[in-house]
Amino acid sequence: APAAAPPISLIRPITILVGDSGVGKTSLLVQFDQGKFISGSFSATVGIGLTNKVVTVDDTKVKLQIWDTAGQERFRSVTHAYYRDAHALLLLYDITSKSSFDNIRAWLTEIHEYAQSDVVIMLLGNKADMSSERAIRRDEGERLAREYSVPFMETSAKTGVNVELAFTAIAKYVTVFP
Ligand code: GTP
Ligand code: MG
Repeated sequence: APAAAPPISLIRPITILVGDSGVGKTSLLVQFDQGKFISGSFSATVGIGLTNKVVTVDDTKVKLQIWDTAGQERFRSVTHAYYRDAHALLLLYDITSKSSFDNIRAWLTEIHEYAQSDVVIMLLGNKADMSSERAIRRDEGERLAREYSVPFMETSAKTGVNVELAFTAIAKYVTVFP
């Protein structure tokens, strides 16, 4: 008889969240981890934070180690130190902020400079709930993602749309197509 799958797989991919300050990296992670959205005044991440979260990919439990980085320029050297060990990167922009979208190319240049060449990258257009203030169309996000051959989704840390899916997809890419 086939052996039962272990409760927790030995796969512990390291995922890091990157993108400009204010795009919603911390909010996305809090929504994924705790299923809630903290509204109120914005408090920028200082340094870096770790969250461990188990997701299930095709009956296998994958323990994601997710590092939430600070988007502010002054913490960039801290972030660089984490790129090397990353298996996956969630790169975020804010659909209401053209500058955060325009900066994606610079983030990708930086990722290619510091991360392993086989790192899995996923592009996320966050704050999808803010449709009245949208500055970047969905097809612009899709086109940029196609140009760099990376998967793309629009997410909302507020409503939770596509949040679970984005993290599960990244776990799947890392474990199923290593
Ligand atoms: P740094 O830590 O400085 O890099 O910023 P960050 O990317 O972690 O941004 P953070 O998650 O702190 O969110 C910035 C602001 O945007 C906060 O006021 C959040 O409440 C808000 N926000 C984040 N995600 C969403 C979202 O999906 N929808 C809406 N409406 N607001 C969001
Ligand atoms: Mg943050």
